[in-house]
Amino acid sequence: MKRVIIATNNAHKVTEIRDTFADMGWECLSLKEVGIQSDPEENGTTLVENARIKARAAHELSGCAVLADDSGLLVDALDGAPGVYSSRYAGEDASDGDNNELLLKNLAEVAPEDRKAHFSCVLVFIDEDGSETVAEGRVDGLIGFEERGNEGFGYDPLFLPDDFGNEKTFSELGLEEKQKVSHRARALSQLASQLQG
Ligand code: IMP
Repeated sequence: MKRVIIATNNAHKVTEIRDTFADMGWECLSLKEVGIQSDPEENGTTLVENARIKARAAHELSGCAVLADDSGLLVDALDGAPGVYSSRYAGEDASDGDNNELLLKNLAEVAPEDRKAHFSCVLVFIDEDGSETVAEGRVDGLIGFEERGNEGFGYDPLFLPDDFGNEKTFSELGLEEKQKVSHRARALSQLASQLQG
């Protein structure tokens, strides 16, 4: 069985990625599970640059096949912010709650129809021999006016995906429904077809 190290310290991402690769018969291990500490500075200006920084660092430390993701929320009315700064929108040590609060504040005067946004995910896969494969996925939706739901992470309680008629947030829909349409699931399925093709 092929083993891939998921180069993230975010347990939610590991779960989402593991499910897809299990279907391909691949075993996914987190950095923690293989005892590697890797937390390089994400100083790129694009999602692909940051995903590559994380993938290269983990590949150099492990010598194994690795997969890194970088993702973010891009809001039209804010010219694509928070984008590459999604995890630290409200500051370096900001919690998901702090980020959501700031986003709601910055969109306070924005009408429902103008609250369009999308999540974007870039995946960089580096095989044992160092060869690289890149895949991308996105999901479109609207930003709500209050946090709703208990599942997921990040901006999930505010994001109302178009695929479900903008009625429920990702947090209300739960992981199984989210996986059907999410930016990460779409990037993973694109990556899987590139790797199998
Ligand atoms: P990364 O870990 O550098 O890729 O940061 C991504 C940030 O974007 C996360 O900390 C979240 O704030 C946000 N984000 C990315 N994907 C999702 C998602 O699926 N749901 C909610 N927020 C997300």
